[in-house]
Amino acid sequence: MRFYGKRRDMIVEGTVMSRNGTFSFLVGKRHIVSLGGLDVRKTFFETKEFIVSQGFVELLTGLVSSNEAPDDYGAAFFVKCVSSLSCAEKLSQKLIWLTFDTRRFSFDLTTKPTSKLYVGVTEIAEDDKMLLHTLHIFEKFKRSTSVAHIVFPWLITPNYIVRFVARARLYTAIMKILNKRDKTGKREEYALQCIYDEEGGRDKVIKKFIFNALSSSVTMTGAAVTWLTVFLANSPEWQEKCRAEVDCTISKHRTSPKQVRDEVLDAMSLQIWESSFSTLYACLQETLRITSTGTFFRKNVSGGDISIGSTGEVIPNGSYAAYLPDHVHMDSSIYSDPLKFDPSRFLGSTSFGEKEPHSFLGWGLGRHLCAGMRLVRLEINVIIVHLLANVEFELSHKQGHTRVGEMSSVDRNMLRPEKPRIPTYMRYKIRDVETTKA
Ligand code: HEM
Repeated sequence: MRFYGKRRDMIVEGTVMSRNGTFSFLVGKRHIVSLGGLDVRKTFFETKEFIVSQGFVELLTGLVSSNEAPDDYGAAFFVKCVSSLSCAEKLSQKLIWLTFDTRRFSFDLTTKPTSKLYVGVTEIAEDDKMLLHTLHIFEKFKRSTSVAHIVFPWLITPNYIVRFVARARLYTAIMKILNKRDKTGKREEYALQCIYDEEGGRDKVIKKFIFNALSSSVTMTGAAVTWLTVFLANSPEWQEKCRAEVDCTISKHRTSPKQVRDEVLDAMSLQIWESSFSTLYACLQETLRITSTGTFFRKNVSGGDISIGSTGEVIPNGSYAAYLPDHVHMDSSIYSDPLKFDPSRFLGSTSFGEKEPHSFLGWGLGRHLCAGMRLVRLEINVIIVHLLANVEFELSHKQGHTRVGEMSSVDRNMLRPEKPRIPTYMRYKIRDVETTKA
């Protein structure tokens, strides 16, 4: 059960006690091989016989597909949809909505913008009551993983029932909306409509796209954008550096002295958004490095053993491989003082990846690099740039009277990146509305 409760501690202890960093254990009947150390990363991230979705889904939900007819749980379809949504043409078309919504919801950083813009359902995003209700059900779904059911698949636990019901309610809510669209002929310009038009099949779109997209956008993007804001609030030096970059970009692209900041931002092209904010991106990378909790999983479905580098050891057919991002991200020989927020690690003439191959796992590596990365970087840029352009912010006491000392730390045992668990408060000051300087 430590595998689900204190996974990071368990893996770190096992790694330390093992001969070369690799050790294995059983979770129910599932055999898991934990790869440790830096040199076996290549095996983990580049072996093509490994399947990501089976590793992840089966250890998270208890489902198991047979080796003879492996199920990818919609992963290939999801990658295809996300790649199609991430092309420059589609991103440029949506930029106007992204900037519009970000301004509207600029203080609600964690949910509305990301859930609506590309991977959400307009009817839900535009109705505050329905949005909160849906997010509430999704939270229930996310938090009710039944560990006992995963270990003993025949056991129907209360958590399993809660998750089952939450999933059914989400499914029904989205299906109703799609049915209504079909009846009324109403079309929406967001991701769901694009996927629906291109791929058809309501059931497939909901099960294989919406559920995956909700997890990636609400959970992963929500966590990243929240932690990035918190780190910047706690680091006046980096907040100012990022703001200087934003001000400089705005000045460069202002076409008349009367144009206010938001108008300049509105008019910026995708190419400008994607090429102008290297300091902010270094802050995002540093945020992902520190907050990438959880474990990467793969399943060996090759029909034979997979060798682990030159160790002489193998991952047997049907077994799972695990890799803890902390093996890299918290290694002080790669990142000195690893818990310190220091984005300068990612700035400079040579990029970090060139100096230290395979040392940044924030977007994954090798064969399964995050397909949503371009989309997410754009979303996060737009949100944080608007914030920096318009407000100065810092951590504060709940009532906002005083500044608090330390920000909350990341619980490294979390099974996936999550927003801070302890409420974090900030106070902010609106910047001068108009200035031709920035
Ligand atoms: C800040 C937000 C995000 C972060 C930090 C992130 C990170 C990652 C990481 C680390 C992986 C590799 C997983 C592995 O190797 O096991 C991954 C894969 C993936 N991500 Fe993201 N992700 C984010 C948001 C998104 C979003 C919003 C989408 C889509 C809407 C998305 C779509 C995907 C897909 C499809 C894959 C699988 C790629 C493959 O298997 O080839 N991600 N992501």
